[in-house]
Amino acid sequence: MFHDGYKPLYFVTMRNWTWKSVDAIDPSTSDVFVVLGLEGLPSGELPGGSSAIFRHKIKASLELQALGEIKGFEWVEAEGFRALVQAVGEKPGLDFSERLRLAAAEAIKATEQRKCDRIVLLADQIPEAKVALLLEGWWLSSYRFNSWKSKPSPKSPDFVVAVNHEKAEEIGEILNHLVSVLECTDWVRNAVNEPGSILIPQVLADRMETFTQANELSWKAHGRHALERDGYHGLVTVGKGSDHEPILGVARYKPENAKPGVHLVLVGKGVTFDTGGISIKPADRMWEMKNDMAGAATAIGALVAIAKAKLPVEVSAVVCLAENRPGNRSVLPGDVFRAKNGTTVMVDNTDAEGRLILTDGLWEAGDLGATHIVDLATLTGAVIRALGPSIAGVLGDDESLVEMIRLSGAIAGEKFWPLPLDAEYRSKLDDSVADLKNSGGPEAGVITAALFLKEFVPANTAWAHLDIAGTAFATKSWKYYGEGATAFGLRTLLELAKRLAA
Ligand code: BES
Ligand code: MN
Ligand code: ZN
Repeated sequence: MFHDGYKPLYFVTMRNWTWKSVDAIDPSTSDVFVVLGLEGLPSGELPGGSSAIFRHKIKASLELQALGEIKGFEWVEAEGFRALVQAVGEKPGLDFSERLRLAAAEAIKATEQRKCDRIVLLADQIPEAKVALLLEGWWLSSYRFNSWKSKPSPKSPDFVVAVNHEKAEEIGEILNHLVSVLECTDWVRNAVNEPGSILIPQVLADRMETFTQANELSWKAHGRHALERDGYHGLVTVGKGSDHEPILGVARYKPENAKPGVHLVLVGKGVTFDTGGISIKPADRMWEMKNDMAGAATAIGALVAIAKAKLPVEVSAVVCLAENRPGNRSVLPGDVFRAKNGTTVMVDNTDAEGRLILTDGLWEAGDLGATHIVDLATLTGAVIRALGPSIAGVLGDDESLVEMIRLSGAIAGEKFWPLPLDAEYRSKLDDSVADLKNSGGPEAGVITAALFLKEFVPANTAWAHLDIAGTAFATKSWKYYGEGATAFGLRTLLELAKRLAA
């Protein structure tokens, strides 16, 4: 009935990625097919034979959608077969790759509403790279944080990507690699979504140790005693109000074929919960501050993804883990501490804690011999006011690094926009007692936060700061992300590492 040796199948059954090659697909009426239209052409074709009417209807639907006669997707049925047909349309602000990720996510979500055993995404007529985008969109959109749900979510149908027979091996390799990256995004999202009282610094450090060591990376954690002894006073100061002691973690990846003269160090803010401390935050939506360790989790997730991809470049991650809460030993506004590099800091606002712990992370990056430092932090509410929930801020004094990050982000579907690191605002951080204070006041909050960090960046390193406060955690569903953690930045950093390795 069907073409011989028509196509191999790639099975993705929820997160259990198993793929195998089969000689022919036998379309069944218990399947639902998904066909996307790319510039009027179908992403794939149903194996031929008896289903000519079905195939004809699919083509006709795509033509009508291309003409704008049908908006959104259309259900097509014939001879007992069912398909969801959706043209990849215009979406303001989203490039073609993003529209493909999103189209796959939306089509499959709509299909899951229907009763079926299998969803078969037909993708044999498009290039490998485009198939990867479809899988990525589906994977990111089907993530669920289920650990605390009493009822398991209903079992999803099997998901099958049907690809071109000749390219089976090639596409299999690409998708295998992609899945290893996507598994890292799941790890990050699970950590960020976990409640703050569960995921205290020690628990987060343990998760990081397990995850990095499972991927043959070195891991070392420095506890409060060592931090106090060695002068890491940023972490000690922020962590003082909590019984859950601060930790500085270092994970390293150094392949034998690493490019000489390049060492990228990712520095992550890992505030496991940010109450604001004595400068306490308002109650409204304070629960979202469980996401204040997203920078640290994403740094580790990116490092593992880079290692799994076996990129020939040395990369390390330094994570600053602490809990910021009021207590009888909390740091007080007006207190002064001496940072690891000798600079003294007056704590003007205990809620500007991220930049305090990052002083230690930046120092550690220098000590590791970084040539490039990229810090990631849910650092300011101001970046949300400036750029909204969809665009992250990037600031730095190395123009080419900033541009490389913006470009890497565009490829990954993560938008970064540069803000000026303008020294004119440095005086907002001047203090009458200490060398500088930790809050620059209500204006230009993203810039003054970055200017504060700049004071602690080791000499002769290219540095960029990513403020992911708006993008790390979706307050409502966004593109192919549901509500909650997004792992925003991970895929950008992987792209960046590819460029630094080249
Ligand atoms: N973690 C917050 C920033 C934040 C706000 C992240 C909203 C995600 C969503 C950070 O520690 C903070 O409180 N920043 C202060 C700085 C201010 C006191 C100078 C802020 O943005 O208000
Ligand atoms: Mn804060
Ligand atoms: Zn914070």
